Formats: sequence, structure tokens, C-alpha cells
Amino acid sequence: MSIQIKTSAEIEKMRTSGIALRKVHDAVKAAVRIGATTMDLERAAEAKVEELGAKAAFKGYHGYPAVLCTSINEEVVHGIPTDKRILKEGDVVSVDCGVIIDGYYSDCAVTYPVGKISPAVEKLLKVTEASLYAGIDKAVVGGRLFDISYAVQQVCEAEGFGVVRDFVGHGIGKAMHEDPQVPNFGVPGKGPRLKAGMVLAIEPMINLGTAEVKVLKDGWTAITTDGSVSAHFEHTVAITKDGPRILTL
Ligand code: MF3
Ligand code: CO
Repeated sequence: MSIQIKTSAEIEKMRTSGIALRKVHDAVKAAVRIGATTMDLERAAEAKVEELGAKAAFKGYHGYPAVLCTSINEEVVHGIPTDKRILKEGDVVSVDCGVIIDGYYSDCAVTYPVGKISPAVEKLLKVTEASLYAGIDKAVVGGRLFDISYAVQQVCEAEGFGVVRDFVGHGIGKAMHEDPQVPNFGVPGKGPRLKAGMVLAIEPMINLGTAEVKVLKDGWTAITTDGSVSAHFEHTVAITKDGPRILTL
């Protein structure tokens, strides 16, 4: 595999996919409240995906059972929605979703506060989202891939947060995961040269404490090994001659 270059027609198709995905996220966001279960969020997403005539990208992927990944507090990524898990005041829930329209994937994640959260966790969310945008700013023609990685890392490590290494962003297009891998750490000026037509899913996964994670016995849910809270923000971004274009806004 090598890094695929998309035509402008393909990028428009990916934008259509990204707009649909944004609508799914909006539906989920409206369902996030104290007392909701993660299955309530899943149902909101599933209904919206169907209404839009999209296909859920995660469901069935390596046997993954849901439209969404819903990861609460110390859960980093790949939490499975369940009617047994009730959101309570002070929680944060990371919602990750992907859809396919006309053969093209989009992928986006947001971490939401539930009611009032602690100042420390509020800062984690703010900084993680800011690091995503710092990375996106480096998604420019002539730059290097690890300029993106380094930008994310720098923003988060400056605050003493743990930058997860075990999971990374990725190229995206006619498949959810294409080359290259997009780590959230790296050496600036290194890595493949960035070209117009590359499309990347950039997705910092950042912990209040240790960077270390482990996967639970369900085979999916990744948690921080120290139990510290984790945040996840992701956009699908096209590199164009006019600069980075966020397809999932
Ligand atoms: N959004 C995840 C990613 O970027 C995919 C979730 S894995 C799945 O790789 F199994 F849930 F689909
Ligand atoms: Co992704």
C-alpha cells in the first residue's frame, strides 16, 4: 500500500460523507445528558445514519458490534455502547463514528462533558481539541507527515498530558484505514512529504495521566492503565493547494 492521492471529485464525495457524519454527530450530541445510556446515543446515531441513507463504517468492522464507539472517562477509545452504562454528572464521553456514502468513508470523534465537569478535565478537553487543530494547521502541501504529529504532541505534552502511542490516526478514502499511519507524536521535518489530494484522519487520544493504555477482556475497550481520564477528538482532513480542508465540519 502507498498513500492514495484523491482527485477533487473524490474529495467532494468525501465531503458529502463528512457532512452526513456531522449530522450524525449532531444527533448524538443532542442525546448526551445526565441519565442517558450509551445505548441511547447509539440509537440516536443509528436512526440518523438510516435517515441519511448512509452506511455505518464501524459496525461489522473486524466484528465491531455498533455504529458508535462510546468511551467514558478512563476509557480511551472503542468503548461499546450498552444500556447498562448510564451517563452521570461529571463524566466525559468520547463519541467516535464513521460513515460511508457512495463508497467514501469519513471518520470523526468528539469528547463531550456530561453536566458540570472538573476544571482539570475541562482543560484536558480544551487542550486535546486545540492539539487537533494544531495538527490540522500542519496538513499543508510541502510539509512532512510528522510535522502534524509533532504539533499535536507539543500542545499536549506542554500541559503534562499523556499522548497515547498505541493508537494512531490514518489515511482514509475508499477504506477506513489507508496509509499512512498518523501518530500523535514524532519528529518534525520527518515522514512522507504531504501532497495535495492526501486525506488524513487526525485523531489525538490524550490522557490526564500516563500515556499507557490496555485493552479490556471484551477485546475492544481501551482504558488508561492509571485510571486517569482520556479525551479524543478527530477530523477527516483533505490536504489541498489552498490549505487543509476539514471534511467533517
Ligand atoms: N475511529 C476508529 C479509527 O479511527 C475506528 C473505530 S474501530 C471500530 O480507527 F472497530 F470501531 F470500527
Ligand atoms: Co479514525
